Amino acid sequence: MKGIILAGGLGSRLLPITRSISKQLLPVYDKPMIYYPLATLMQAGIREILVISTPASLPLFAELLGDGSDLGLELAYLPQDRPRGIAEALIIGREHLAGGPSALILGDNVFHGTGLPEHLSQARDRLDGCVLFGRRVPDPQRYGIAEVDAAGVLRSLEEKPASPASDLAVTGLYLYDEHAPEMAAELAASERGELEITDLNAAYLEEKRASIVTLAQGIAWADTGTPESLLATSEYVRHLELQECIRVACLEEVALRMGFIGPEACYNLGLKMRNSSYGQYVMNVSEAWDNS
Ligand code: G1P
Repeated sequence: MKGIILAGGLGSRLLPITRSISKQLLPVYDKPMIYYPLATLMQAGIREILVISTPASLPLFAELLGDGSDLGLELAYLPQDRPRGIAEALIIGREHLAGGPSALILGDNVFHGTGLPEHLSQARDRLDGCVLFGRRVPDPQRYGIAEVDAAGVLRSLEEKPASPASDLAVTGLYLYDEHAPEMAAELAASERGELEITDLNAAYLEEKRASIVTLAQGIAWADTGTPESLLATSEYVRHLELQECIRVACLEEVALRMGFIGPEACYNLGLKMRNSSYGQYVMNVSEAWDNS
């Protein structure tokens, strides 16, 4: 399975912050936002990942993350010329996916919690059509909303409904079988001129090949696309990191734990950032790993 991170869009809900910088390069506490979805894909065991962004921002992501080889990854970059919807990412990524299944994640979605890697790999193994990840929210008008029956079977999907049928939001992580690019290419644009991800998921549902997994209690999820949620997520990460002496979405540590790189390579990555507490943390984690 290959991954796609969609880090495009205008970030209009964050203006003027996003006038000259991509939303997904903004910090969420101590690291760029895109680290979080990248860490999530890595925790799902995915190593070949396509980053899609605007033509203007793409070189900045490439400068930040390189070709991924430092982390044992293969990263590729492709532009989305203008914001034509989340589902277009699968059309842009068609050749990259080379007829295989995919995990698409939105560049502003933060997932964190114990058991997340197991949760994701179970969903991967069960993939038949598409798998969505749901979370109950207090403000369902803001999200794609899923309706499930008493047995947890997915019944309907609606994008930002004025009168939501439930409070179960569809988070920005989607697993698809190999048909997603061709199905996305058949979608009609919505009223706002976009290829809506909810329409793609609804097409899978129509074929009875869509399911939803409710995220386990211990897993936190945030869409950091507004000033309030950006700050709240930064505070959440800060609190967790200080309280528990851990780092959320530390890519070097994730690469080490997943076996993508060894402790020496990991240490050297930390060494390059030794003046920051992040760099120190990477060095400490590598040393502890080496001695364990
Ligand atoms: C997008 C999707 C929506 C989903 C949300 C999750 O909305 O369209 O279905 O619930 O991401 O973050 P956006 O945040 O782009 O408005």
